[in-house]
Amino acid sequence: MRSPGTRMWRVALCCVLMETFVHIARGLNICTSGSATSCEECLLIHPSCAWCAQEDFGKGWTVTSRCDFSQNLQKRGCEARFIEYPTSSMSILQNTPLSSKGSGSAQYDVTQIMPQRVSLSLRPGGQTWFGLQVRQVEDYPVDIYYLMDLSLSMKDDLDTIRNLGTKLAYEMGKLTSNFRLGFGSFVDKNMSPFSYTAPKYQENPCSGYKLFPNCVPTFGFRHILSLTDKVDRFNEEVQKQMVSRNRDAPEGGFDAILQAAVCKEEIGWRKEAYHLLVFATDDVPHLALDGRLGGLVQPHDGQCHLNDKNEYSASTTMDYPSLALLGEKLAENNIFLIFAVTKRLYVIYKNFTALIPGTTVEILDQDSKNVIQLIIAAYNNIRSKVELTVWDHPEDISLSFTATCQDGKPLPGLMKCADLKIGDTVSFNVSVEARSCPPRGTDQSFTIKPVGFKDRLEVTVDYQCDCGCSRKAQLNSRICSSIGTYNCGTCLCEPGYLGAHCECQEGEVSSMYLSACREAEGKQVCSGRGECSCNQCLCYESEFGKIYGSFCECDDFSCPRHKGILCSGHGECHCGECKCHAGYIGDNCDCSTETSSCISDDGQMCSGRGSCVCGRCQCIEPGAFGDTCEKCPTCPDACGTKRDCIECRLFKSGHLADNQTCQRLCKDEIITVETLKTDEPGAVLCLYKTDDDCVMKFTYLEHASGQSVLTALKEPECGGGPDAMMVLLAVVGSILLVGVALLAAWKLVITVHDRREFARFQSARSRARYEMASNPLYKQPVSTHFVETDFNMYGRSYNGGVH
Ligand SMILES: *[C@@H]1O[C@H](CO)[C@@H](O)[C@H](O)[C@H]1NC(C)=O
Ligand SMILES: *[C@@H]1O[C@H](CO)[C@@H](O)[C@H](O)[C@H]1NC(C)=O
Ligand SMILES: *[C@@H]1O[C@H](CO)[C@@H](O)[C@H](O)[C@H]1NC(C)=O
Repeated sequence: MRSPGTRMWRVALCCVLMETFVHIARGLNICTSGSATSCEECLLIHPSCAWCAQEDFGKGWTVTSRCDFSQNLQKRGCEARFIEYPTSSMSILQNTPLSSKGSGSAQYDVTQIMPQRVSLSLRPGGQTWFGLQVRQVEDYPVDIYYLMDLSLSMKDDLDTIRNLGTKLAYEMGKLTSNFRLGFGSFVDKNMSPFSYTAPKYQENPCSGYKLFPNCVPTFGFRHILSLTDKVDRFNEEVQKQMVSRNRDAPEGGFDAILQAAVCKEEIGWRKEAYHLLVFATDDVPHLALDGRLGGLVQPHDGQCHLNDKNEYSASTTMDYPSLALLGEKLAENNIFLIFAVTKRLYVIYKNFTALIPGTTVEILDQDSKNVIQLIIAAYNNIRSKVELTVWDHPEDISLSFTATCQDGKPLPGLMKCADLKIGDTVSFNVSVEARSCPPRGTDQSFTIKPVGFKDRLEVTVDYQCDCGCSRKAQLNSRICSSIGTYNCGTCLCEPGYLGAHCECQEGEVSSMYLSACREAEGKQVCSGRGECSCNQCLCYESEFGKIYGSFCECDDFSCPRHKGILCSGHGECHCGECKCHAGYIGDNCDCSTETSSCISDDGQMCSGRGSCVCGRCQCIEPGAFGDTCEKCPTCPDACGTKRDCIECRLFKSGHLADNQTCQRLCKDEIITVETLKTDEPGAVLCLYKTDDDCVMKFTYLEHASGQSVLTALKEPECGGGPDAMMVLLAVVGSILLVGVALLAAWKLVITVHDRREFARFQSARSRARYEMASNPLYKQPVSTHFVETDFNMYGRSYNGGVH
């Protein structure tokens, strides 16, 4: 008996040593270090481990493990017939080729997925794979059920859809030769507080309402026209409808969707057809638990409750269905739900589509005018993609998908292909791995189904968990000293007995055996984590997990962690190393190989501007950001990609216009203006020349909120742009002008220079004269003499001078 004190000490020691073991473990042979004591345990260690069931195996070898790589066992003298080495395998049971046309000759015998039945034999940890092909068959039958909100606000819509049947049949006729249309309507539960219940409103809930005084009593859901190819009947029935009125803003539409989905016979959904359920409303729906307001506590049971008048009879006894129930029932019945809602509700219903698979949302005009385009667009959208779903996925089986879409490039981690044309075939590579062995006798199976298709692939799984030799086990065999069971080459001793042949009794520890319990000379006995008894290490139990190995050198808890979780919860810890489940890689299995989250709307990995690392895009292109690097105003191609959106959204031209990609790729808000402000900070100005030689200008701005806004001119600028002759003349003219200007400038410079020189000359000259005037040597060449004369002539005296 060990004292608790020693135990504590050992636990402490084991933690100190943990790091060391991690390093030792990397160099170990995973099969032999696992110290499997039975064939079954050996198979579980790793898919590459085999077991030797030969009785005299291992004599004279230092390493005596019967669990090893198959080739090692053979080298060590195990005969091939004694080696137990089951592997995973796959066989195809049914493989009917894909059909090419739906409503053609062999109607109702259409195959859109191949193969149809596969059987897998899985060894835990071992991988196997199978291929699978899906094709959207041409001219496949289509069922459309139009489910309409008949609350008062939908009155104008009702007027618009009176001839919907004929028009829709005409448009759908271009897409399929086999089309049926049905009709149903809903308001809300006829009880307080959802509807008006006072006696005066019983017959006419609009009584006293001035704008529209007449309407029919409130109802939950009414199925009016079963799916039919006689579209005139649709028009007739719609003509007869009248609106009703409820009290609160939300409507009881989800009750109606559920009934329309599950009442297969009444609605008349065909097995071999696309099922489209168009849900037209202008308000939010009531959700599960809202029923409590009216005292309804019974959750929806997911069943059909139509009475003989084709009305939903459990309207006032059951709560509204939950989103999960709705999603489940829609998928079960292969129904695509199209929310046709007014613009105000787009975001709310968009959020629902994320929670209910196989749904889309489209914006319905206030008066339902665009309902036909909307249905056609939704139909094309649905038919342009294939998305696989897995049903009844067993917990211990991991599946990973690689899609190969129309461009032939394998996309690992992806379960869907988009942008397909009818008739395109896409293929998927499904790799399967079983993680553990289920309890004996449980057979597992699962189904792979493209969303909305009735076609499916059934996969049955059986497990390679047992060894053939176990069937020949001998109780109290003489090989085991008659106190143990001989099984697959080893003895399973009765409690209290030990040793390869049950030759020791527990407790008789003798020192002569101790060396066999050391991994190497100088190492601790049983790595300090076990006791040596009869040649064997008996490993201690640990609070952290299991300690194992011939020398107790392994455990299942000293592995890399991520946020404190061993192997990130995505792998098994084996002797210091994480063995990751399929779909994860990395030392601590924290990196998902799933890449579907990195595929941008245009189908490229990280929009071609980055790489997918552990399921997240790392944008490489400078300036790119967003979950899939889809935003990048400063990228060289930013103007190019946005130009396509401007062309298709504003002018219905360009190469996105003729297919449905425009709606999907161009979600930016587009504002049209008369004159474009180009100085907005952060906005990129783009311009391009249109086919008719006009110039289209727009700016592209990414808001911090994640919304990108394109501000574009209403019309391209055409202002009779300059022609070639004008340009030539202008160029020649400007060259001449420049020449003349240069000459003039030269002339000016020369003139100024001359003037200046002349002025200088002048001033020099005048200075010279002045200086001459003041020369002391200079003598005036003219002299003046005065002569005194005193003539008295005529009585006067005269003074005169000569100069
Ligand atoms: C829709 O979902 C987004 C994100 O999940 C959330 O921010 C937004 O408030 C939701 N909108 C509505 C109307 O529920
Ligand atoms: C399918 O995937 C597995 C591994 O996941 C691979 O070994 C196999 O070659 C792939 N098959 C095809 C046809 O690409
Ligand atoms: C549809 O649009 C995409 C845009 O990426 C284009 O590559 C493709 O050629 C278009 N298809 C047709 C049929 O025009």
